[in-house]
Amino acid sequence: MSFNTFGHLFRFTSFGESHGAAIGCVVDGCPPRIPVTIEDIQRELDRRRPGQSRFTTQRQEPDAVRIMSGVFTDEKTGEQVTTGTPIMLMIENVDQRSKDYSEIKDKYRPGHAGYTYDVKYGIHDYRGGGRASARETAARVAAGAIARKIVPGLTVRGALVQMGPHKVDRSRWDWNEVGQNPFFCPDAKQAKFFEEYLDSVRKAGSSCGAVIEIVAEGVPAGLGAPVYAKLDGDLASALMGINAVKGVEIGDGFATAAMSGVENADEMRMGNDGKPVFLSNHAGGILGGISTGQAIVARFVVKPTSSILTPRKTVDRYGRDTDIVTKGRHDPCVGIRAVPIGEAMMACVLADHYLMHRGQVGEGAAWPFKP
Ligand SMILES: Cc1cc2nc3c(=O)[nH]c(=O)nc-3n(C[C@H](O)[C@H](O)[C@H](O)COP(=O)(O)O)c2cc1C
Repeated sequence: MSFNTFGHLFRFTSFGESHGAAIGCVVDGCPPRIPVTIEDIQRELDRRRPGQSRFTTQRQEPDAVRIMSGVFTDEKTGEQVTTGTPIMLMIENVDQRSKDYSEIKDKYRPGHAGYTYDVKYGIHDYRGGGRASARETAARVAAGAIARKIVPGLTVRGALVQMGPHKVDRSRWDWNEVGQNPFFCPDAKQAKFFEEYLDSVRKAGSSCGAVIEIVAEGVPAGLGAPVYAKLDGDLASALMGINAVKGVEIGDGFATAAMSGVENADEMRMGNDGKPVFLSNHAGGILGGISTGQAIVARFVVKPTSSILTPRKTVDRYGRDTDIVTKGRHDPCVGIRAVPIGEAMMACVLADHYLMHRGQVGEGAAWPFKP
């Protein structure tokens, strides 16, 4: 299986599968002398870690990361910094239960990747979905923790804004609330409702989808390379590449279809600091594939978990009709843990584009120009 590498200048190659010995990644192209501690990486992994509430899978993985290479002590500051060489991050799998899958080992879970992997590679790693498992996304979160440090002043935050058909009330949006409930939900009232809702979904032997919003602030204007490495194009690809993601939108996205040109145009005025101020951000911080300096806003939709207790019709590896019930430990709404994963992919795309921008144009143009 080729194509396990993300990025151009900031790149990482992820390795491992759900029930193998370990998962992780090798980050290549990270600039030297970037301060990185193991706590920086572990903190992000802990946000994605399974088994933290009754609303996510009960698989108990500590996701303890080890930095195997690529860091050293800065002689001036005494801090641990990157050396510019490959950084290998490794996380051992400690709570695999392959027997949970033995009953369904020859059957394909409808909505999962078993059939397509098998028809392509002729290998069916039924143990937790093998390489198609979202265990792989721990590697992305670990790489993302390093990526977050590359663009000076960058902040990347994410929130769950819809679960099933139920949206948050944006007038109650509070970023501080996101870390206070098990859903990464910015609306405290709706988070309470999500508890009841998700319990009812699970009791019904089913699962539900979600919409996640990722916001990056402190992104300098000018990142993005027309025409085949547009920032929005690369972001869409990175977010779409997360397991179970079925759609991505930037800024007002699909809602712009119903807007008029008058409403949609982000008007501009000069600010006191010599930089333009946009009077709105329908574009989500990207114009012509290049960042405007406004917040970059992306949303993605995560489908309902395919592994459910309700019997479903399927076929097996030998071409026979059969039914399947997926037991074992599964997230009833995989969108919840997708929040830190989306943040990580946003950070990786921005780090990659920041380095490409610096490589091609250095500091960039001295805007505004003299008339
Ligand atoms: C954080 C996260 C956790 C996931 N956990 C499960 C799970 O427990 N059971 C399951 O069937 N799918 C789970 N998925 C989704 C599958 O990995 C995904 O649907 C499968 O690989 C097929 O790929 P596709 O949905 O992108 O086409 C999870 C996805 C994410 C993002």
